[in-house]
Parts: sequence; C-alpha cells; structure tokens
Amino acid sequence: MLVPTGDLVAEARRRGVGVGAFNVITVEHAEAIAAGAEAAGVPVILQISENAVRFHHGRLAPIAAAARAVAALAAVPVALHLDHVESDELFDQAAEHGFGSAMYDAARLDYAANVAATAAAARRGHGRGLWVESELGEVGGKDGAHAPGVRTDPGEAVAFVAATGVDALAVAVGSSHAMTTRAARLDHGLIAELRAAVAVPLVLHGSSGVPDDELRAAVRGGLVKVNIGTALNVAFTGAVRAALEQDGRVVDPRKYLAPARLGMAEAVTRALQVVTNSGGA
Ligand code: G3H
Ligand code: ZN
Repeated sequence: MLVPTGDLVAEARRRGVGVGAFNVITVEHAEAIAAGAEAAGVPVILQISENAVRFHHGRLAPIAAAARAVAALAAVPVALHLDHVESDELFDQAAEHGFGSAMYDAARLDYAANVAATAAAARRGHGRGLWVESELGEVGGKDGAHAPGVRTDPGEAVAFVAATGVDALAVAVGSSHAMTTRAARLDHGLIAELRAAVAVPLVLHGSSGVPDDELRAAVRGGLVKVNIGTALNVAFTGAVRAALEQDGRVVDPRKYLAPARLGMAEAVTRALQVVTNSGGA
C-alpha cells in the first residue's frame, strides 16, 4: 500500500532502524523493489530521480504512474520519493503525481545559494504536503562516475536545516554515487557529530559502494534513509547479460527481463535485511 514517506522515515527512526530507498528506472525496477521488500517483510521507498525522468523523455507521468500502481498493489508499505531534483519545474510536479516526498538538490551551488534555493523549494513543497529532503556537502559521483566528494560540516548542517526548514538532510560522510565496488569507508565520527547536532533524519546517498558492516554501523549511528541505486543495476544488468550469453538467439525481452527483475529483487531483499537489521550477519 502507498504511504507517506515522512511516516515511514519517522517510524524507522523511532525503532532505530533504517529504511531502504531504491532507484526506479523502469517498471521492472519498481516491481523488483516491491517484490524484494515483500520477501523481506519490511516497508520500502521507491525513488525516481530527475535523471530517470530525463530517460523517459523528460516526462514524469508514465514512470510515476507505474511506480504508484506497483506501490498500491504491494503487500508492504511503500512510499514514493522524487530524487535528486535540480529543476524547480519538476520539483513542483511531485505532489500531483502522488509522491509523498522529494529531494531538492542544490548541493552543487555554494552555501548561500543552496540555502536560498532550498528554502524556497521547501516552502513550495510543504504547501503541497510534501516531505522535503535536501543535501549539504556534495556527495560525489552524481554524474555517473565515482568521485570522492566533500564532507558535511555539522555546524553548517544545523544552520542549513534551520534556514531552509527541510524535513531530512543528505550528508556527505564518505560514500560516493555510482560505485560498482563496495570499497567506501564512512566517517563514523562525523556521522555521530551530525546525529548529535542535526534534529532532522539524516540520509545516506551512494550506499551501493558501502560494505554491509559499514552500512549497519551507519544506521546504528543514526542514518535513517539509505539510498541504493547502482547495486540494483549491477544485479539487473548482470542477469540480462547472463541470459543473453546463455542463448544468443533470444528476441523476447521477457526472456532476459524476468531473470533481471528476479536478480534485482534478491539484491533488494539482501540490502533491506542489512538496513533494517532484520537478517544477515
Ligand atoms: O539518490 C540515489 C542514491 O544516492 C543511489 O546511489 O547509485 O551509488 O547507490 P548509488
Ligand atoms: Zn543520491
């Protein structure tokens, strides 16, 4: 069933566990994430990035409708989040397409410009009932190549949240987007400082590159929303490749999309077991 993102995050925080937020590019991604969450028996966030909307010819409606329908049919609570939005126009469409939340990402701007743009977006978002996430201290690798990024300063984070009124903050603590190896090392001291200083829930981006034990420690340390995208595509595309290598004459997409969706669902279940501490080592 479709639920508001803010409720899922608040409940996870109350229970001291994380909530997984997984990136949706195609309808098969949405189906795989819902199936993976059902297998784990925990709630999940389906998130669609501005980049994914661009892939769908800049139109939010088709992929949002697919994600909404998958969420409505799911046997576990599912929230919809619009991710890494840099376009004001797209941000302002989130609520009407059924999203409970959106991330307004002005982290590429300098501090003052980030505050001004984010505060304005948060006001508009709240007016439409959205739970608004933003980012301070840019997590690297957004353009698709792993890059180290910078670190979020705790004092600046407190001031940023107060000045913008956002509901959650993505912080740069050592992860980086688009990693296909799990070699990231998080700065747990900084996570503790941020947790102690910042009142709103903290979000970890670029979690694909973070090893399981590091992820568990990050959630114990106070990260709540854990964003994972690339690792799912590694599972999905790996299964496509294997299916095509196994039979080079395949033409029906279902022959490779079915194993891809299954491989991705299994990756989602494993990740959720780590993030929610519901299983695994
Ligand atoms: O916002 C999306 C996430 O930060 C996903 O990052 O693809 O590196 O796991 P990732
Ligand atoms: Zn991200």
